[in-house]
Amino acid sequence: MERKLPKHIGIIMDGNGRWAKQRGLNRWDGHKEGANVFRKICDYACEIGIESITFYAFSTENWRRPPEEVAAIMELFREYLGEAEDRENENIQKGMCMHFIGRRDDMPDDIVSLMETAEENSKDATKIDVNIAINYGGRLEIVDAVKKLAQKVKNGEINPEDITEDDISDNIYTAGQPDPDLIIRPSGEYRLSNFLLWQSAYSEFWFSDILWPDFTSDDLEKAIDDYNNRNRRFGGV
Ligand code: IPE
Ligand code: IPE
Ligand code: MG
Repeated sequence: MERKLPKHIGIIMDGNGRWAKQRGLNRWDGHKEGANVFRKICDYACEIGIESITFYAFSTENWRRPPEEVAAIMELFREYLGEAEDRENENIQKGMCMHFIGRRDDMPDDIVSLMETAEENSKDATKIDVNIAINYGGRLEIVDAVKKLAQKVKNGEINPEDITEDDISDNIYTAGQPDPDLIIRPSGEYRLSNFLLWQSAYSEFWFSDILWPDFTSDDLEKAIDDYNNRNRRFGGV
């Protein structure tokens, strides 16, 4: 039987700190290596024909970390986004359409502007949608959607009784994209940590002890193979 590719894969890029600790390095080195692995896995997913992929890079809870670590992570975003700007044509050639999901208000202005440029420059690319979740929280995403709908009610555009699940789906950050079929979490943790709460209602999960900086395309292949053995019933029989 032919292998089915998940249309949308979500990845929680976890374990950078432990990877660094194992090697006597500081946490910042782990994030740096994690960013390199992100680039490789993103390219690989595009090559094999995944249509949509979401990487969890920084949660709304990650601000609780020491300021030096947060600053180091922000610096990596600047580096990556600056590169994306330089390699604009390369990314468009590859067909990567970039989206940033999460609340932008609390992010440094220069990073927000780099995000906007990357989105604008890649908007016509059609091979793969790449979502990067930065200052993302699944609960906050639902709150933001509810606020938008409440405003529409206030303006008399919709009746509260008429609100449907589709209205929520259409007002969250991933509006227009399919829900993730497969969510991957390495690093030996078995939780979502506020990732894609609304969208993961019927996702398949794949957990592994591998730390994100050690994650390879073979691991992605293993996750996809396992996904092919799942029986998705969506509540039916
Ligand atoms: C994931 O790795 C990166 C971010 C959350 C930004 P961690 O930094 O959480 O690594 P561990 O979990 O401490 O090993
Ligand atoms: C989840 O990892 C967030 C990202 C990978 C960006 P965390 O390391 O923040 O999650 P917890 O704290 O272990 O749940
Ligand atoms: Mg972690």
